[in-house]
Amino acid sequence: MTTQTARQLDTTELETRVKAMYTEVALAPNREFHFETGRRLAEHLGYPKAELNAIPTEAIESFAGVGYFLDLAAITPGETVLDLGSGSGTDSFLAAVATGPAGGVIGVDMTTAQLAKATRLADAAGIRNASFLEGYIERPPVTPGSVDVIISNGVINLSADKPAVFRAAAAALRPGGRLVLADIVTARQLPEGVTCDASLWAACIGGAAQRDDYLTMISHAGFDVETVRENDYGFVSDRAVGATTTYGVTSLSLLARRRGTGP
Ligand SMILES: C[S@@+](CC[C@H](N)C(=O)[O-])C[C@H]1O[C@@H](n2cnc3c(N)ncnc32)[C@H](O)[C@@H]1O
Repeated sequence: MTTQTARQLDTTELETRVKAMYTEVALAPNREFHFETGRRLAEHLGYPKAELNAIPTEAIESFAGVGYFLDLAAITPGETVLDLGSGSGTDSFLAAVATGPAGGVIGVDMTTAQLAKATRLADAAGIRNASFLEGYIERPPVTPGSVDVIISNGVINLSADKPAVFRAAAAALRPGGRLVLADIVTARQLPEGVTCDASLWAACIGGAAQRDDYLTMISHAGFDVETVRENDYGFVSDRAVGATTTYGVTSLSLLARRRGTGP
């Protein structure tokens, strides 16, 4: 159990809550959450219908991303893609179409039900170039320098150690590799009452970093941030909407490139 004071986030409780929430998203996607899920959300965020039609429907039912970014990723045939927090696999399956059989996608997630669902759907659809591994985004189980593109949708805000996630992303990528993601950030620093509330973290609000701090963390990990754009994303529950309005909670999509020439 992680040490806890009155004003500290209990990271053990956070992990338990995040796993519980996203087990529900995998197994009962039509339930009400603080956030929207599913195909309607994906289309609203800009996912092309034709691309969604090419991947398993059940994956899209459990989609819980916060923005579209695959146009920024510009994945080409033969590339190796790592999806941090792959959930039920929507972005992984779309990326697997883009890499074709000469490339492939590794999805990493810590929630068993999400991994099981994505794996079952890949097997059922005969998708052989997407595999799903249990692991943490702070230390993804891949060979250093082996990845061309990292994608991640609505996940890094959930991590209590975001600098570690971005350092691990830089280590996994080859030099010049791309980090392309959508995530929740805030205009103003969140107060401790929000950041110490594991339930608001699990809802993708409590862990959101201030936007400039978020971009600085990426830069410090060894990336040049090339493109940042705002997404039309909104939360659902009254509590989440209240925090969103008060602290300027927004979603952004971005493309960053790993600096350097060596491993
Ligand atoms: C908001 S959902 C997004 C899932 C997927 N990217 C999508 O767009 O549908 C967040 C996912 O990240 C996973 N996750 C959160 N924190 C994680 C961590 N530290 N390591 C691994 N997976 C994590 C959760 O289990 C969940 O499946």
